[in-house]
Amino acid sequence: MSIHVQSTVNHRLLSCLVVTLALGGALQAQTRTAVQRPKVSAAAQQCLDCHTQSTPSIVAQWRGSAHAGKSVDCYSCHRAADNDPATFDHYGQRIAVIVTPNYCGRCHQAETAQFEKSRHANAAQFIGSLDNMLGEIVEGGPAAANGCRQCHGSEVQYRSEGKFDPATWPNSGIGRVNPDGSKGSCAACHGRHAFSSAQARQPENCGKCHMGPDHPQAEIYAESKHGIQFRANIAKMNLASKSWVVGKDYSAAPTCATCHMSATPTQKVTHDVGDRISFTLRPVISVKLENWASRRDGMKDVCSSCHATGWVDNFYTQYEGTIDLYNEKFAKPAEAIMDALSASKKLTPTPFDEKIEWTYYELWHHEGRRARMGTAMMGPDYTQWHGFYEVAKHFYTEFLPEAEHLMPGIARDVLKSDYHTWTEGLSPQQIEQQLEFYRKRYQQPPK
Ligand code: HEC
Ligand code: HEC
Ligand code: HEC
Ligand code: HEC
Ligand code: HEC
Ligand code: HEC
Ligand code: HEC
Ligand code: HEC
Repeated sequence: MSIHVQSTVNHRLLSCLVVTLALGGALQAQTRTAVQRPKVSAAAQQCLDCHTQSTPSIVAQWRGSAHAGKSVDCYSCHRAADNDPATFDHYGQRIAVIVTPNYCGRCHQAETAQFEKSRHANAAQFIGSLDNMLGEIVEGGPAAANGCRQCHGSEVQYRSEGKFDPATWPNSGIGRVNPDGSKGSCAACHGRHAFSSAQARQPENCGKCHMGPDHPQAEIYAESKHGIQFRANIAKMNLASKSWVVGKDYSAAPTCATCHMSATPTQKVTHDVGDRISFTLRPVISVKLENWASRRDGMKDVCSSCHATGWVDNFYTQYEGTIDLYNEKFAKPAEAIMDALSASKKLTPTPFDEKIEWTYYELWHHEGRRARMGTAMMGPDYTQWHGFYEVAKHFYTEFLPEAEHLMPGIARDVLKSDYHTWTEGLSPQQIEQQLEFYRKRYQQPPK
């Protein structure tokens, strides 16, 4: 490329141009060295010499990473820690296959400490839950190992010489229990061997686990205005930027990370995804968490980068109202009925051996969660058709009849509350209004 500079050109502009070109060249050169030949330790050079042959893709992924640019090499991560029982001698170096949060924490203390206190890190602790009974016993062990444990995390069992019990490894579940006693897997979100922030900011990243009939956050997000704007504007999202502050580095749309983890002008990145949520939407009846108000303020601060205060406050009023409706109209009566059936021995203590136990489980664990989560993250189809519609249908046409069958009269008190008086019949005016609607809309002749 040749640049013809007229002699009349402004001197400052010229020197500016020269500096820019020189800098550009230097940067290019630097990137090239970074990509081709990062400085590595002698031990790591041996890893590279062999692994360029035996696992070329791993080496290529690492070469393109931020780590390679900063000389964080194979040995920096895989070098055995003294307190880790799962290490072995590998061509002259003692290494670990599993690079646990303790290992990453050698350099990333803050992120590791936040992550370790989160529910994510503790996600493998579910023995005793109904879900576990279902997975381990009703369905069967291998179903739990390849299902539940791939999201929640296995308890990794080490044998020797770098070999693991295949029922527990490979596994990148979010709360994996590692042989060194640490909990979790950083690679659950930071895919190896790039370990990038950009990839972790993408909604698909969370969607490996946060999807499906009982917690469809990925589907809800995809159908929400936020998800739509994200896909329409992905090129403007600046995902690969080192600094990623909402309203400053990007503004088109929030991703899961934006709302639950990433920085705002007044908040730092958090690796505890519970920091900004006020309710737990998982149990039969939703309850507010400890310190719910300050957690909610953290989330409102995120919304406020893009929305006005009134918009955000009204959203939370709508949200609370919907959770309250679900709790009062369906969840509390259903729970009271199940308690009464158990107390009068109409049910065995064993879960899932009676039909109503499945109906009830799906009512709160699938449909009820969908209704609540759809509302929390602005996915109206999940709030309504996958949510409240299914809740109402199964509550009135399956759950109550099954309960009545086991214990006649049990539904009477429930149906007396104002929420359910419609079951005694709508008024003639309400019925006429409805007939009239269809006559007008589809121009049917009056009956
Ligand atoms: C002399 C060649 C050689 C050297 C040096 C070497 N490796 Fe390996 N490594 C291999 C081969 C071959 C495998 C097996 C690949 C396979 O199973 O396909 C392997 C496997 C591994 C595994 C996976 C073990 C498992 O069972 O899952 C890890 C992790 C690993 N190497 C890391 C390293 C690190 C870190 C270094 C440098 C400290 C290193 N290697 C040095 C050749 C080497
Ligand atoms: C930033 C830390 C880090 C660096 C740098 C790193 N690794 Fe890894 N490596 C990991 C993690 C994390 C895993 C996945 C195990 C786990 O879930 O903890 C892993 C897994 C592996 C595995 C087994 C996985 C498989 O797919 O077979 C091999 C082999 C491996 N690394 C080789 C290498 C080599 C070779 C290099 C250097 C080019 C390297 N690693 C650099 C963190 C690192
Ligand atoms: C696709 C990934 C995935 C699979 C498979 C999966 N879970 Fe989950 N599970 C999750 C996620 C994500 C949550 C959190 C949902 C939320 O907060 O909305 C969760 C929540 C739970 C909870 C609620 C924890 C609490 O404190 O209330 C339990 C218990 C549970 N899962 C156990 C299981 C069991 C047992 C299995 C297998 C039968 C299983 N899960 C299968 C991803 C999964
Ligand atoms: C639930 C997904 C998730 C897990 C698990 C996770 N991270 Fe992150 N991490 C992210 C996201 C998203 C970002 C990008 C934050 C931003 O800048 O917007 C990030 C950014 C980072 C950064 C860049 C600096 C920063 O704070 O922005 C480091 C370092 C990091 N993570 C380390 C870790 C370590 C170490 C672990 C394991 C202890 C870990 N991460 C586990 C999602 C995760
Ligand atoms: C030996 C120190 C060291 C270890 C061990 C280490 N890292 Fe890093 N990590 C760094 C450095 C240095 C950077 C670059 C920071 C910068 O550019 O400012 C970095 C950057 C990152 C980033 C940001 C990348 C980006 O796209 O901006 C993530 C995410 C990350 N590390 C995750 C991990 C995870 C996960 C592990 C363990 C599997 C790990 N690191 C192990 C030193 C380390
Ligand atoms: C490998 C699976 C997996 C991935 C990936 C994952 N999560 Fe989770 N997440 C879970 C499980 C399992 C739970 C439930 C943990 C428990 O309470 O037992 C959970 C819980 C949560 C919670 C509730 C926390 C609380 O304190 O109640 C939030 C919020 C969350 N995840 C957000 C995210 C976001 C955002 C991402 C992506 C940046 C993400 N998760 C990635 C599996 C995952
Ligand atoms: C616009 C911001 C926003 C986005 C984007 C977003 N969330 Fe949420 N999320 C929320 C709010 C608000 C709540 C409810 C908080 C509360 O109860 O106070 C919530 C609740 C949750 C919960 C808790 C559910 C429970 O069981 O208690 C999980 C898990 C979750 N989100 C995961 C995700 C995942 C995964 C994505 C991306 C696929 C995502 N979120 C995208 C704002 C967001
Ligand atoms: C990065 C900017 C950004 C953040 C952060 C953000 N939003 Fe939005 N929000 C948008 C955009 C863009 C739209 C879509 C506007 C449109 O398409 O007309 C939107 C739409 C909405 C809508 C309307 C949904 C609909 O279907 O009409 C609600 C409600 C909403 N946001 C609430 C929130 C809440 C609550 C938070 C915080 C938990 C939040 N937003 C965080 C950018 C953001």
